[in-house]
Amino acid sequence: MVNFDFTEEQLMIKQAAREFAEKELAKGAAGRDEKELFPHEEIKKMAELGFMGMMVPAEQGGAGLDTISYILALEEISRVDASAGVIMSVNNSLVCWGLEKFGSDFQKDKYLKPLASGKMLGAFCLSEPEAGSDAANQRTTAVKSDGTYVLNGTKNFITNGANADVLIVMATTDKAKGPRGVSAFIVEKKFPGVVVSRKEHKLGIRSSDTAQITFQDCKVPEGNRIGDEGFGFRFAMMTLDGGRIGIAAQAIGIANAAIDASMKYVKERKAFDKLLYEFQAIQFKLADMHTNIEAAHLLTLNAGLRKDRGERFTKEAAMAKLFASKVAVDAALDAIQIHGGYGYLKDFPVERYLRDAKITEIYEGTSEIQRLVIAREVLDHA
Ligand code: CAA
Repeated sequence: MVNFDFTEEQLMIKQAAREFAEKELAKGAAGRDEKELFPHEEIKKMAELGFMGMMVPAEQGGAGLDTISYILALEEISRVDASAGVIMSVNNSLVCWGLEKFGSDFQKDKYLKPLASGKMLGAFCLSEPEAGSDAANQRTTAVKSDGTYVLNGTKNFITNGANADVLIVMATTDKAKGPRGVSAFIVEKKFPGVVVSRKEHKLGIRSSDTAQITFQDCKVPEGNRIGDEGFGFRFAMMTLDGGRIGIAAQAIGIANAAIDASMKYVKERKAFDKLLYEFQAIQFKLADMHTNIEAAHLLTLNAGLRKDRGERFTKEAAMAKLFASKVAVDAALDAIQIHGGYGYLKDFPVERYLRDAKITEIYEGTSEIQRLVIAREVLDHA
């Protein structure tokens, strides 16, 4: 039986994240969303609290915490501002984790330390115009020449893309080898040939930035390759396993926000001379929302616990993301229904929760890809 009694430290981290979110993120979240403003100052403060490199050891610039603390903090941040949540999730899970696990001493010193301490921001460049769910179909090339790799190609939907200082880039070094011919590189944004070619305007998480990045004869030193040539696809898949735990936590945060708003509203709003919560139709909705969120939370903690124990967690992370993202969308829809016409207005926060929730069913692997991963895992190990 899994024991989810949190340690004092984990509870302290959760509380610190909640207080920070309510004090620093809440007041501006709706306005930043409306105007598509990146939360520069807020992310700086999150870095000071250790939230940008939570699982990286202290000697490498991080907070030296476990995945459970990370989940609890990310849930709290996303409950108030899901855009800040994804910025944090990408830097922690998709950038710092891989560098800490597979980076060379040089790479850790030069890149991981500033990324984990939040002095720099990172992005993860896997998706391409023709490589979304089919991530192995990489067209970006990296050609070796005189101690450097020359990168050419286009990366799409890159979270943090416009604001990042450091990019983790997957590119093909040997097309004939398919996924085994993909390699991973650390590319500084300021390297000549890195161009932010497009900024996207989105339905939700609008104060996080999403960009297209083009590499035009961009020279990357050989020492910036992560692991061996051909390791890049497996590296990306392993990284995304952890990323999916982060997105599950983000989804739970949004679902919790939807339920908080609903609980408040049903105790204030009257219809037919009764407060809304007195109606069974409302009570049943709230009961389902609470049950689903609890289940999503437990699935996510289970994946995190396995990760912390060094066990394989590919299936558990996919299950957590698949379930939590659906719970977030359903909770946001229910919250709007509970609010009636008001739920459809910008005056109330629940419409933002729905817009923010939807992306959790798409990025870091769509729900269809999560099902594919789960099915492969259960069939392979049957
Ligand atoms: N851990 C370790 N290795 C793994 C792995 C995992 N979880 N998953 C796959 N691999 C390995 C395989 O074992 C295989 O290795 P060998 O060559 O040694 O046999 C290799 O990787 C190729 O794997 P597959 O044959 O399974 O590859 P595939 O082409 O069938 O694709 C897929 C698998 C699961 C569909 C994969 O393409 C995928 O996950 N697609 C979704 C991509 C995705 O999540 N994109 C998100 C973009 S990033 C983002 O959204 C971030 C953001 O900005 C918020």
